[in-house]
Amino acid sequence: MWAKIEFPETPDPLIELPMKFIQGWVNGDTGAAAYYNDASEVCEELRRRHAGAAYVFHLSGLVAFCGGNSDAGMRFWGRALSLDPEYAPSRESLEDAVETDPDWPSVEIYLDALNEGEEQFLARIMRNAREQFDEKNYAEADRLCQRVSAFKRPKFSQLWPYAECREKSEKLYDDNLLSEKCQILSSAFEEHWSGVNAADIEKSHAEWGDLPDRRQLAQLVAGTVAQSSADPCRIFEIGCLAGFNLHMVKEAIGTTGRREILYGGLEPNAAAVAEGERLYPWIEFVNGSVQDMIAGTVEIPQSIEICLVSRVFMILHPDIVDGILAHIGDRVTHLVICDDIMNTDRSFPVLRLPLVLVLHPYPKILGEAGFEITDMVLADVPDRECTGFIIARRMK
Ligand SMILES: C[S@@+](CC[C@H](N)C(=O)[O-])C[C@H]1O[C@@H](n2cnc3c(N)ncnc32)[C@H](O)[C@@H]1O
Repeated sequence: MWAKIEFPETPDPLIELPMKFIQGWVNGDTGAAAYYNDASEVCEELRRRHAGAAYVFHLSGLVAFCGGNSDAGMRFWGRALSLDPEYAPSRESLEDAVETDPDWPSVEIYLDALNEGEEQFLARIMRNAREQFDEKNYAEADRLCQRVSAFKRPKFSQLWPYAECREKSEKLYDDNLLSEKCQILSSAFEEHWSGVNAADIEKSHAEWGDLPDRRQLAQLVAGTVAQSSADPCRIFEIGCLAGFNLHMVKEAIGTTGRREILYGGLEPNAAAVAEGERLYPWIEFVNGSVQDMIAGTVEIPQSIEICLVSRVFMILHPDIVDGILAHIGDRVTHLVICDDIMNTDRSFPVLRLPLVLVLHPYPKILGEAGFEITDMVLADVPDRECTGFIIARRMK
């Protein structure tokens, strides 16, 4: 791919950093990746300052494209052209991208769809993804989900296609290396999450409140509460960080009359627990890891109506996940999982690259632990690794 950019006579001086990133990337400078985040943030600021300037959107598209997000690249080039249909650099970049794109036969068709409005544009792709998912074409559903999340979040690139990850994992499985790889990733994530502090949590909470998958998860839990007659109804989250999901769930449930809802969570990071106790004093936190829970050195409640596990199984070794399911099997009635759920037709875990997360074979492992899946829901707006939700209930 080659790219051009045309600036006005006196462009905003902020273009310097994005240009440095693009030039570094074009020259194959391995250090360029270090400026990617900052370059994307500067582009965001440029778009705020110059909402009508095609060159700013074109530059944003180039930064996103070089950062590995071609969907956001196309989106910004499309916006540049809707601001100025004569802006040749964006037309050329978009033509280049569309040439190898399986979904868009021409630039004009892409632009017509984009100009209907971004929400309609994404809804159209998600309708297709849902159809593919319902027909069990998981690789195709996943490809479309990754496109949507990449479009929505320019700073995050797509994950590798599920089919390719499956093939690589099959090879690792055959070579007896899959378990070792899962262990490496799990240790790395545990270390990462143990270092998260109050300032990181505050930054994340500010971003999470607006994410559709967070709201969808809260609605799904609230819907499960509505179907249950347990009173009190205990909701417990495994790996709850500071309790943001439980806060969203409480808001989604709203008032319940006299019915009592109890909230609790398990979290190994003591700083996150302290922050959660400050922000949400109505949550009963248990400070410990799932390993502590399985070993019995920390106690979680004996009876849990709804157990929530969001973005945690994906960072754990499959043996630990089996251990958790066995441990909670006789105390949990409903289980709501938010995760990368595409590995539904395999009997072993798949590694999702390049981030390296584990896609667990949920139908198999839940069945073995005595749970039946009552619903599998694709995220309305997938958030890269969070492709959907699984709702399961303990078999009688
Ligand atoms: C990706 S975050 C998800 C946080 C929260 N559930 C959410 O959806 O935002 C992963 C969480 O799992 C926790 N975690 C990591 N390793 C764990 C372990 N071994 N046992 C329990 N929790 C763990 C982390 O501290 C962190 O809170």
